[in-house]
Amino acid sequence: MTKRSAKLSVDGKAVIELPIHEGSLGYDVIDIGRLGGNGLFTYDPGFSSTAACQSDITYIDGENGVLLHRGYPIEVLAEKSDYLEVCYLLFEGNLPTADQKVDFERTIRYHTMVNRSIELFISGFRYDAHPMAMLCGLVGAMSSFYHDSLDITDQQQRTISAHRLIAKMPTMAAMCHKHYIGQPYVYPDNSLSYAENFLHMMFGTPCEEYEVHPALTKAMDRIFLLHADHEQNASTSTVRLAGSSGANPFACIAAGIAALWGPAHGGANEAVLNMLNEIGDEKNIPKYLKRAKDKQDPFRLMGFGHRVYKNHDPRATVMRESCDEVLSVLGLENDPLFKLAKKLEQIALEDDYFVEKKLYPNVDFYSGIILKAIGIPVEMFTVIFATGRTVGWISHWNEMISNPYRIGRPRQLYTGAKTREFPEV
Ligand code: SDX
Repeated sequence: MTKRSAKLSVDGKAVIELPIHEGSLGYDVIDIGRLGGNGLFTYDPGFSSTAACQSDITYIDGENGVLLHRGYPIEVLAEKSDYLEVCYLLFEGNLPTADQKVDFERTIRYHTMVNRSIELFISGFRYDAHPMAMLCGLVGAMSSFYHDSLDITDQQQRTISAHRLIAKMPTMAAMCHKHYIGQPYVYPDNSLSYAENFLHMMFGTPCEEYEVHPALTKAMDRIFLLHADHEQNASTSTVRLAGSSGANPFACIAAGIAALWGPAHGGANEAVLNMLNEIGDEKNIPKYLKRAKDKQDPFRLMGFGHRVYKNHDPRATVMRESCDEVLSVLGLENDPLFKLAKKLEQIALEDDYFVEKKLYPNVDFYSGIILKAIGIPVEMFTVIFATGRTVGWISHWNEMISNPYRIGRPRQLYTGAKTREFPEV
């Protein structure tokens, strides 16, 4: 098949022919690697049109609202799979056989405990430290406990680190919550499933038995699943860039957690709940939509819009269905925030501004309502996102390190001072 290429001319002069690489789905890419040698860089702040890597893990079609994990549509995985099975799929590349699934679940359960020193580490945080601040510190500190799995050139050690991260995130997340509310830690109970164990550590106490409601376990597992991975988003790109320097996997995931924290990214779920509480009543929706459209007003409709999706975020659709299920099981069908959110979505999607700019609800719009119904406090929302996304981060990190890679080092358009003399005194 003939090799495709793009021919670039500058000021009417032919400059260079650039090869085009074709993927299995989605956009092809123009390889600009040779451009630098011709005295030119490309310029794409925000990377709207830039593919920073090649990946087999997740595919997003923003125009048609498609999300595939290793080729499986997110809607199918949400209905037929569970979080740990999707973890195996993302990291290993294929769905596990029945035996592989049992073995993987056993491995993850084996790693759920954390070193007792982590408790001392957490006790150093202020009582009201934001759980994301604690989680960021804890995950970065993990490299100081696991010296036996830091050789990133050894696939077996990369896999053990991945298992440790997937297994220990719920334990550490629950510990951050317990520290925040001043309650004793609840150790993992390995007779429970992943999501059940997390809710048990979050809401159980040493004083009495704690039964997790099966509907809440299913909703929690689905929340983790829907957040598992999302191609080269800001936090995943941060993990890849950190990993490209050869940093250890725990440091890379800590960098991803830091990037996720921002309200434009994973911090949006917390911001959506705060926004809905601020709007308070349907009669206030027009006032807030007006603010969202006012360029002079920094207010944005949190949970709306996406860099890639210019159609419905398929995760938001599944999340809204889960909202309905959880709230009806809990007898909260008339939850005022859920009713307000549905009304806000309906009005926004009928508004020319949102229609023209193709701003739809994203994964964060409904997740907060489910988390609130489960009993998760709002300051823990982004911690939940980070817990679910850890498998995506570590799968992308492993994919990069398993193949030839170079340190990521973008260039710039320099607009500063030209060389000038230091003033004689
Ligand atoms: C996540 O990348 C991923 O995959 C992320 C994620 C994942 O799983 O990893 O999907 C998770 O981060 C979801 C997004 C959560 N963030 C929010 O809900 C915060 C609110 N949304 C916006 O901040 C915004 O939509 C972003 C950050 C999500 C996307 O920003 P872009 O792609 O840079 O788009 P933009 O800011 O250039 O907006 C384009 C236009 C602008 O108007 P104009 O300047 O063209 O006139 O749309 C407007 C924006 O003002 N706009 C909004 C808006 N989002 C965009 N106006 C009002 N409310 C909004 N929410």
